[in-house]
Amino acid sequence: RGVAMLATLISVLACSPADEPTPPAAGQSAADRRAGAPGIGDPDFPRDGNGGYDVSHYDLVVDYTPATKRLDGVTTISAAATQELSSFNLDLTGLDVREVAVDDAPATFTRKGDELTVRPARAITGGTPFTVKVTYTGSPKPASDNANLGTYGFIPTPDGAFVASEPNGSKTWFPNNDHPADKATFDFTITVPAGLTALANGEQAGRPTTSGGRTTFRWRERHPMATYLATATLGKFDLRQGSTAAGIPNLAATDPRFKSSLDPLYTLSGQITDYWATVFGPYPFSSTGGVVDDYSAGYALENQTKPLYGGFQPDETIIAHELAHQWFGNSLTIKRWKDLWLNEGFATYAEWLWAEHKGKKTAEATFTELLKRPASDPMWSYPPGRAKPDDLFNQSVYTRGGMTLHALRRAVGDATFFTLLKAWAAEHRYGHVTTEQFVALAERLSGKELDALFDAWLFQPRKPA
Ligand code: ARG
Ligand code: ZN
Repeated sequence: RGVAMLATLISVLACSPADEPTPPAAGQSAADRRAGAPGIGDPDFPRDGNGGYDVSHYDLVVDYTPATKRLDGVTTISAAATQELSSFNLDLTGLDVREVAVDDAPATFTRKGDELTVRPARAITGGTPFTVKVTYTGSPKPASDNANLGTYGFIPTPDGAFVASEPNGSKTWFPNNDHPADKATFDFTITVPAGLTALANGEQAGRPTTSGGRTTFRWRERHPMATYLATATLGKFDLRQGSTAAGIPNLAATDPRFKSSLDPLYTLSGQITDYWATVFGPYPFSSTGGVVDDYSAGYALENQTKPLYGGFQPDETIIAHELAHQWFGNSLTIKRWKDLWLNEGFATYAEWLWAEHKGKKTAEATFTELLKRPASDPMWSYPPGRAKPDDLFNQSVYTRGGMTLHALRRAVGDATFFTLLKAWAAEHRYGHVTTEQFVALAERLSGKELDALFDAWLFQPRKPA
């Protein structure tokens, strides 16, 4: 109690809204020089993620009541220090932190903007594992300050919550290292009023239990996951569960308003997951499916194992897109946001491959049609290989990114191209990727010099010749 009160006092004193990050001063104390950095090192998002440690696991305990919008949470993070740490940061927006413990010992903390700085009683030795447990409460506010990204993060709905956090909204509902460069496994224990369903990533660990009018759901994602893909989507849902023809557990969930989508979502998600496994290689996770919630997000998100569709009936094209992300984005994860075309260009190209597979339209026909766009089309002035932080999800990252893959397919031929897609997914399964690595693999497998092709398609602010 005493420690928590002192920490609250410190956090109030440290919380002047005008505060800006202070650069390291020459005369700073030894302790400050051993402070973990407030960002993970992505120059486009300098405050996202943190330095000095690597998370291996998040244990999230969340209690939520839609009527009051109150969330009570306990997040226990298992991490390894990559340097000596006199203090380190977590990312968290809003919410009241009640207590922080490092290796079960009370720690002090301060808040400044989206940074939660934790100072353990004793410095953490570099190279050693540690745990940090954060007890917090409050009413989560989604991120919505950026017109380009819309509203994202933990979005309260009348019957629960719509949780879609790309690129950096997971900090709106739990403290974490909020950047895809640090992936970890997750356990979720989510309690909601009885009658509601809590849907998180991975598979259920046991049946839900109800007592005192509240139901607790347990979910477990055993494969590494970026924080932006973590979800706790809550509300009234109709469920359909089973497995795909190839034997992958499949779960579809729809808000009652989208009940008519339940069967098509279930069937298409299963068929598409199985088809992508033949094109991209084995499905990387332990289950597949999808969730349609009654919140008009204006987008869908490829939440790991459970893509989330925001307030519309998903068709096969968008299901093909979100499920392709399970390979490209979720299993193979970008190290820096500027490489986002490795997610969105691939998922867009997957839409064209699905249409080709269904005999509706070849990828070549889609490509040829898009190539007719005049040189003045804004797509040609935005180089998709360098996603801009203030316009991350520009259509060029999707469409011109997808066209880049088709230009590559034309240059290397179908056999090499499809070998490359599988090799790419296999070599970096569950890992991190960069554009340079993709170019290198494409050149290695094709035996061709491809710099000019990738430069024209990914990096030039003009229509390729
Ligand atoms: N990755 C998503 C998709 O294309 C888009 C997410 C957009 N995020 C946002 N905050 N608007 O499938
Ligand atoms: Zn996408």
